[in-house]
Amino acid sequence: MSDQKRGMHGIWSGRWTFILAATGSAVGLGNLWKFPYITGENGGGAFVLVYLACIFAAGIPVMLAEVLLGRKTRMSPINAMAKMTEDTGAPKFFHGIGWMGAISGFFILSFYSVIAGWSLAYILKLAGGDFTGSDAAFAGETFGNLVSDPVGLTIWHSVFMLLTGVVIARGVNKGLEAALKILMPVLFVLLLILFGYSLTLSGFGQGLHFLFDFDFSKLTGESFVVALGHAFFTLSLGMGAIMAYGAYMPQEQSLGKTILWVGVLDTLVALVAGMVIFAIVFSNGLEPSAGPGLMFQTLPLAFGSMAGGEFFGTVFFILVAIAAWSSAISIAEPAVAWAVEKGFSRIGATAAVCGFAWLLGLGTVLSFNDWAEYKLFGKTFFDTLDFLTANIMLPLGGLLIAVFVGWFASSELVKKEANIENEAVFNAWRFVVRYISPAAVCVIFLHGLGLFN
Ligand code: TRP
Repeated sequence: MSDQKRGMHGIWSGRWTFILAATGSAVGLGNLWKFPYITGENGGGAFVLVYLACIFAAGIPVMLAEVLLGRKTRMSPINAMAKMTEDTGAPKFFHGIGWMGAISGFFILSFYSVIAGWSLAYILKLAGGDFTGSDAAFAGETFGNLVSDPVGLTIWHSVFMLLTGVVIARGVNKGLEAALKILMPVLFVLLLILFGYSLTLSGFGQGLHFLFDFDFSKLTGESFVVALGHAFFTLSLGMGAIMAYGAYMPQEQSLGKTILWVGVLDTLVALVAGMVIFAIVFSNGLEPSAGPGLMFQTLPLAFGSMAGGEFFGTVFFILVAIAAWSSAISIAEPAVAWAVEKGFSRIGATAAVCGFAWLLGLGTVLSFNDWAEYKLFGKTFFDTLDFLTANIMLPLGGLLIAVFVGWFASSELVKKEANIENEAVFNAWRFVVRYISPAAVCVIFLHGLGLFN
């Protein structure tokens, strides 16, 4: 492993930049689109509780482990894991964490771009005033028309993939750092405006009950798997995205607080998005279990009946697209960084990674229309990719990362790299990574397989 590769991709410019980049990666469609709809499909409160438990017992501790591996090696996840496996004398298959991550990355990027494309299409719809004074039936129909048109979807998917590629090709630090400094705060402010609006709706209380009342009878084995998978998905874990970002993190920065910030911000965004969306669902007699179209049917309704809604709605969908965009970049970065280490130009690597993910994305485009009837175990092409990545590959990646850092990396190395000043916090984290996170993933997998029911 040549040392030339170390640090060749650059370092974040400041202490806050990593938090910004990691939050930009974490906050995305997972929070605004996926969390509300899977919560709706899995019956609400009890699911949210399991999800929160997964964030704290597995997500945040594994995030720390992932960043630590990246920063220690300062290479792409594939080479980082190769080096760490060699240096620690751990079994060779841990090297596979990097490879499996690259494959999950292609799968995720392929469908992520298609869904992000929907938000691009909605920017125009909102700006054109389509939803002003409209009702729930119209919102449902509009969404139905969008996804039933493969050509339109392909165009938006292509536009989004192109946007993603342009930024990656230029190197992540330059354009992205500057843009995120403005855009992330704006995203938070708009979310708060929407939250304020949702407080005025008749369905707000009902939404809160839906999100926070526990009814464990609504949970199935699969709900646990989905909650765990989503904890990894929403924090961008288990495939090396955060490991790659960790590789660009300044050495002196302490990991503990930094990671906690990212985890807490991401969780807050998801919960606020959930409160807003379910307030609208219950105020308009919509179905919480509407599935992937949920966000696209609720938010336009809110904007359509709100003073200044055309403006705020347009801006909001721009921000959904931006949140997705800053996430998509982090999904592609590990594979691109690896190809660059192999000697590809940054542009060539980007074209290859984005091109391949784009092609695969056509399967997701068709799964909403022409291929909607083709199912594997009751799942469409999109459902299959989503399930395979979020619910199997990411938790498995997270499990292996936790076991690797917990059991194979020496405690001196881990202690030095984590740089957590407080001894008790360090010990607690180390305990969780060694025992709790791996156990949580294993128990939930077995539960999901139906072995505990
Ligand atoms: N966390 C992002 C979201 O919630 C998506 C994402 C970015 C991601 N990078 C990732 C998911 C890496 C899994 C792995 O939208």
